[in-house]
Amino acid sequence: MRAMKPGTALSVIALIGALAMLLWSCASTGSEPDEQGETIVYEEGFESSLGGWSGRGPETIQLSGEHARSGSQSAKISGRTSTWNGPIREVTTALRPGSTYRIGAWALFTEGPDSQFINVSVQQSPDGEGETYTTVGSGNLVKGEWAYIEGVFTVPRSEFVVPVSLYFETPYKEDGEAESDDLIDFYIDDVSITKMPPPPPPEAETDIPAFHTFFDGFTVGTAVKRGYLNPNNDHHELLRHFNFFVYENEMKMDAMQPVEGQFRFDNADRLLEYTEARGVDVRGHTLVWHSQHPGWFFTDSGGSTVSREVLLERIRTHVQTIVSRYAGRVKYWDVANEVIGDDGELRDSQYLQIVGSDEYIRRAFEWAHEADPDARLFINDYNVSFSGPKQDALYELVRDLKEDGVPIHGVGMQMHVRLGHPPVYEVENAIERFASLGVEVHVTELDVSVYESADEAQKMGDDQLLVRQANRYARLFRVFGEQAALGNLQNVTIWGISDGDSWKNSHPTPGRDDYPLLFGRDLRAKPAYWIFADPERLPIFIKSANAINVQGEMDGPDSEAWDYASPMEITDRVGNLYGTFRAVWEPDSLHILATVDDATPEDTDGVTLFMEPYNVKSETLTQGVQTVEVSRAESVSDDGERYTVLATIPLTQGEGVAGHRVGFDLRITDGDEFRSWNDHTHAQEQATENYGTVVMTELPPMGFAQQGTPEIDAEIDAIWDEITPTPMLVETEGVTAEGSTFRVLWDEQYVYVLFEVVDPVLNDDSPNAYEQDSVEVFIDENNAKTSTYQSDDAQYRVSFRNHQSFNGGDESRFRSAAATTSDGYRVEVAVPFTEIEPSAGTVIGFDVQINEADASGARTGIRNWVNDTNMGFQDTSGFGVLMLE
Ligand code: XIL
Repeated sequence: MRAMKPGTALSVIALIGALAMLLWSCASTGSEPDEQGETIVYEEGFESSLGGWSGRGPETIQLSGEHARSGSQSAKISGRTSTWNGPIREVTTALRPGSTYRIGAWALFTEGPDSQFINVSVQQSPDGEGETYTTVGSGNLVKGEWAYIEGVFTVPRSEFVVPVSLYFETPYKEDGEAESDDLIDFYIDDVSITKMPPPPPPEAETDIPAFHTFFDGFTVGTAVKRGYLNPNNDHHELLRHFNFFVYENEMKMDAMQPVEGQFRFDNADRLLEYTEARGVDVRGHTLVWHSQHPGWFFTDSGGSTVSREVLLERIRTHVQTIVSRYAGRVKYWDVANEVIGDDGELRDSQYLQIVGSDEYIRRAFEWAHEADPDARLFINDYNVSFSGPKQDALYELVRDLKEDGVPIHGVGMQMHVRLGHPPVYEVENAIERFASLGVEVHVTELDVSVYESADEAQKMGDDQLLVRQANRYARLFRVFGEQAALGNLQNVTIWGISDGDSWKNSHPTPGRDDYPLLFGRDLRAKPAYWIFADPERLPIFIKSANAINVQGEMDGPDSEAWDYASPMEITDRVGNLYGTFRAVWEPDSLHILATVDDATPEDTDGVTLFMEPYNVKSETLTQGVQTVEVSRAESVSDDGERYTVLATIPLTQGEGVAGHRVGFDLRITDGDEFRSWNDHTHAQEQATENYGTVVMTELPPMGFAQQGTPEIDAEIDAIWDEITPTPMLVETEGVTAEGSTFRVLWDEQYVYVLFEVVDPVLNDDSPNAYEQDSVEVFIDENNAKTSTYQSDDAQYRVSFRNHQSFNGGDESRFRSAAATTSDGYRVEVAVPFTEIEPSAGTVIGFDVQINEADASGARTGIRNWVNDTNMGFQDTSGFGVLMLE
């Protein structure tokens, strides 16, 4: 959050000296580090004066004896007219470039809303003129209670230009939008700045089990840089986690044969010395690749492109020299790397251009086989772990090579994947598909980027993100284990060891920190390691669930109103499922219907609910937490295998309001064991910090989809006759014809939509796809109604001529067909599920749209099923919902 303070820059250098003197005169604590290496460099308790604090705007700041967190006084801020108004103090001389500080303060407000945020921010003048504002910490205050606000701030090394000031404010809103709740009076007390010890140098843990020992049936490899092999290298200790190795760069063509005929073997030799001492296998990466080849490879001494014969001869020499040198020692070779293009054709590389066919691939395998008949020869590629033209092309190529007797023994799926893509069932299908060709399948370059696209902004590698990633690793390795047990998969290699050394920091977006691997920048094991080693050590992920407003419709456990709410799964940290719950609300109640799987009824069985009214995540049990216990004996149904309880938590005014968030947890007691929705330490009675969040939301318009799989051919197959068309009535913008409808079906892989659009003039002259006569489908698979797209959110557009365009989603699996009709056009689409595995009862966020163009090619209007904001391309909160029946 950035706040803006209009007006003059604080650049009066003469003042700085005076302020600095003041600062030190009130810094009452000495500057000796304590046991943790922390040093208090500034403290202010407002006992004798304001200590140099002043208002940022026209507000009043004064010493006050009305309230004090310690001693008898605090600083009171009143008369605020903008959110950015608040107390400010320059702290330049307390800070040192490159050091990290913890800023702490206590704050209180006593009038106005039940809760409000107060932020602590840092104001800097990096170039001595303009100002920057960085919010470093935030406190969610409950009226009448002192709350501690803490933030961490690292002073930039490069641009440490005075002055630097600290200030407090409420979250920024434009002046016109700020309400009295945003302009409350507040008090601050006991402000401190503590210098943190420098982070320890990275050091790998030596006492944790080796990662590969968690898996049976396949070897677990990593890509190494040559420096790691040196026992003094900080990554060396981490090599023991793996029992298979590949060089990240050192065996590529530019490294092995930088000058024609001059081969370099020393690096490869070193890797083999290491792996042979450990008795583990190596992959040689790679022989034929369009990237990282030496400059001379495709040209002659005069600089002209070489002939087909010369190139094939060069490939032969390269392959045979290297493979024969390591015959019997390098067990696996990536003979051909990335030879398929994203379009599913052979990659248009210099190899293909010069040789003219796939012969360079065939020959490379044959030459490698001659050089070492025992080596296992692989073809390796990316984006082949999900279905689409590229996977099809690789499958067909390997099939053809095998049919023609070319010695190929394995398919390498690189698997540079993301948190949200591809879904694990795609990975599973891909492994089975390649294995069905009778070849080995290896995952050769696994990493899990935390970004869904190249232009997503830099993220902090915080616990919440890393736990999501750990779950992603766990789901992938579950599939790997199953496939290995079936004999379909023999190796999984991770592309690197520590986040700091990963290629993903420069690919596809240079300079953007990624966190794709098992070990952090500090070389310590991340949640992605601990989820396998000891899930109890994972930080707790704060989940969020929507409660739906069912005012006046709730009439007990069998009420149809429950169908509006999505079932939330109650799992342990590794995903074992113990039950589900649904949440709905009315202005005076939060109702929870929870179903628990427990086939061993015991007297102690039951469910406990915890509700904290302001969603304050605190290390203590804050004021107002309500607890409701329902025993199994009080359940509304129980068949001995599972039971269902209904519980109601009273809401007070201000809580039963759309948009309000409460802290919430649900804990199952099974005999003498606990299972919780969110706090897996089950310490709900001691702290609210690990409660999940429940958001009070309004029910959006809902549609229902029957199960069924139509053919995508723009015809109204018999299966569609069963479905009543839904009219599209929301006139979002401009003028559109009346009478257009859509119908929906679903199966485990897709949502199918059949549009019948009434449109007298069909036109697609505009170069912008959204201005052509076209239909759109919006999908929010987890129905999370977020203000920005998440990985499960997507928009698919199809013109009346079946031209497709996309925003998110899985283009490779999307299918569509279009046809013109007597009064307009018809479009039939299959929209793939990419994250959820749907079943009857699943509710997804959903909307459809028609874009209508006139004869001149201009868009004259937009029509929707539900959302009239025309913001559905980035904000899913306005979508309707679709229940799969
Ligand atoms: C990458 C390396 O990780 C980087 O260090 C190097 O700069 C570029 O290549 N597919 C492959 C790998 O087959 O060889 C690539 O490795 C990543 C994509």
